[in-house]
Amino acid sequence: MPAVVVIGTQWGDEGKGKIVDNLAEQADVVVRYSGGSNAGHTVVVDGKEYKLHLLPSGILYKGKTCVVANGVVLDPESILKELRGMEAQGIDVSGLRISDRAHVVLPYHKKLDELQEAALGDAKIGTTNKGIGPCYMDKAARVGIRVADLIDPEVFAQKLARNIAEKNKILTAIYGAEPFDYATVLAQYNEYAKQLAPYVTDTATLLHQSVAKGEKIMFEGAQATFLDLDHGTYPYVTSSNPIAGGVSTGAGVGPKAITTVVGVVKAYSTRVGEGPFATELLNETGDHIRQRGHEYGTTTGRPRRCGWLDARVVRYAAMLNSLDYLAITRLDILDELPSLKICVGYRHNGRLLEEIPASLKVLAEVEPIYEEMPGWQQDISGIRKYEDLPLNARRYVERLSEVVGVPLGIVSVGPGREQTIILKKMF
Ligand code: GDP
Ligand code: IMO
Ligand code: MG
Repeated sequence: MPAVVVIGTQWGDEGKGKIVDNLAEQADVVVRYSGGSNAGHTVVVDGKEYKLHLLPSGILYKGKTCVVANGVVLDPESILKELRGMEAQGIDVSGLRISDRAHVVLPYHKKLDELQEAALGDAKIGTTNKGIGPCYMDKAARVGIRVADLIDPEVFAQKLARNIAEKNKILTAIYGAEPFDYATVLAQYNEYAKQLAPYVTDTATLLHQSVAKGEKIMFEGAQATFLDLDHGTYPYVTSSNPIAGGVSTGAGVGPKAITTVVGVVKAYSTRVGEGPFATELLNETGDHIRQRGHEYGTTTGRPRRCGWLDARVVRYAAMLNSLDYLAITRLDILDELPSLKICVGYRHNGRLLEEIPASLKVLAEVEPIYEEMPGWQQDISGIRKYEDLPLNARRYVERLSEVVGVPLGIVSVGPGREQTIILKKMF
């Protein structure tokens, strides 16, 4: 019954999609348990790039059960677009199962996301404008519409009427925006409901049966530890719990069912959107990493902020997620740099900080403690064995593992399935 969780240890876009795809080959079930279409997971198969937002990365293998669990906020338009896109490419999507308890993103959530951000002005979060925050707000306020409600025309008509009336008041009175037309949204979502209904089920029970049968399950984290609503750099976070603990609430699987937690670490740091970033490089080195790494958002196309690897934050992620192994990605992006820095701790007002400060004011003032290491300045993208990596590349990842206190499990040297060095079998 192995159940492996793959999570992001930084600010997202670590390459979770690639690692999940790699491990999914051996899995029977692949599950998304949090977030929504704000995620953008890239998988490259035989040189062909697939960008997944709501569909679990396991969809690219035939015969896997792919679950969109209760913790996800589901944008019907977005998932149907992905589904049709997959089908058009000849990919079998019959293994998809959608939780009847997942909450539904409605057009007013996306509009409110946009308007709330604009109203924040300089204090904006830099969201993906996918309606994630407003949808989770409705869930927490207990007025949300779940997939089970969507596929029952009578219940949906009632709930939508109540919600749209309230949202239209907010849209017009607070933001001076156009109201939504009830009949139009109803007709549009009734159509989506018909198309989604065949995939809908109680996924918690499905997963429970899967565990009982001894099947191999993979949980695909979206977003990342420092975007976690509780543990990230609040308020510059998303509105869900991407950490490994989110699997229990987001999929209805008890913590004891989880056997292994893999933390994906990009070999340097990036962040898209606003918020503190101690090791950010606002110089030529940052530009070099952005250009070489094509660091532009999968979901929004925004340039990602780039910086040195922050092992201190990864160590915190190891603690929060009970990490068993590290999966290091994009090591090849550093191939050309003559020297590299790893942040191993934070200092504030001359004092070494034991914790990651909750105060954003303090976090903005911390001084990273760096260790400088020589680069390897050679192309590593064709290397398939750990021993064949240049000594300086091995030293770099081993130092990270040492500071974080978690062993290396995977080292990735390119986006392709084959560009993966496996040090530890997860299943
Ligand atoms: P995710 O959101 O964590 O799944 O990551 P994204 O897909 O948003 O961004 C990671 C990008 O890095 C994608 O374009 C991947 O194809 C790519 N990628 C993953 N691993 C590697 C690697 O080891 N080297 C290189 N060069 N690219 C990689
Ligand atoms: P994956 O799964 C990187 C960021 C947004 C913004 C903040 C809140 O591809 O790693 P939201 O739309 O969620 O309310 O935005 O979170 N963000 C991500 N950054 N990767 C992601 O997902 C992200 N999902 C959300 O940029 O700063
Ligand atoms: Mg991404």
